[in-house]
Amino acid sequence: MNSAKKSVSTKQNQRLLQAARKAMKHAHAPYSQFKVGAAMLTSKGEVFTGCNVENASYGLSNCAERTAIFSAVAKSGPALNIRAIAVVNDQGVPCSPCGACRQVIYEFGPDATVFFQTSKGWKESHITELLPEGFRLK
Ligand code: THU
Repeated sequence: MNSAKKSVSTKQNQRLLQAARKAMKHAHAPYSQFKVGAAMLTSKGEVFTGCNVENASYGLSNCAERTAIFSAVAKSGPALNIRAIAVVNDQGVPCSPCGACRQVIYEFGPDATVFFQTSKGWKESHITELLPEGFRLK
């Protein structure tokens, strides 16, 4: 990763990864056996976390990223600005946010940085690289 491009300090990044790993332990993933954790840093410097919560009706499952964002809104209200969000999984395999989560990240973080694992190691992407032309209702 090119340090000149970093929008979040290494220390903050480490903090997010640690928080995401802790949240991952709470995952409810009996169907996929794939536990995921997410942690996000807001522009106020707060950290919120989430894990995936699956359901026997598979399509109702919620990803870790959306759990983190919805928890943050429930706790602190909708004036949420996501600076960065990190995603980890318990298998150490590539895992970038799904399309639905990208749109939800974009809603509260049009300038968010996303940290995730790829086949070539950890990657830092701007949300608009992951979701070009994200939807906004205004
Ligand atoms: N999952 C996440 O929580 N976040 C991602 O970025 C990718 C996928 C979850 C959804 C489901 O519970 C499990 O991983 C397998 O798809």
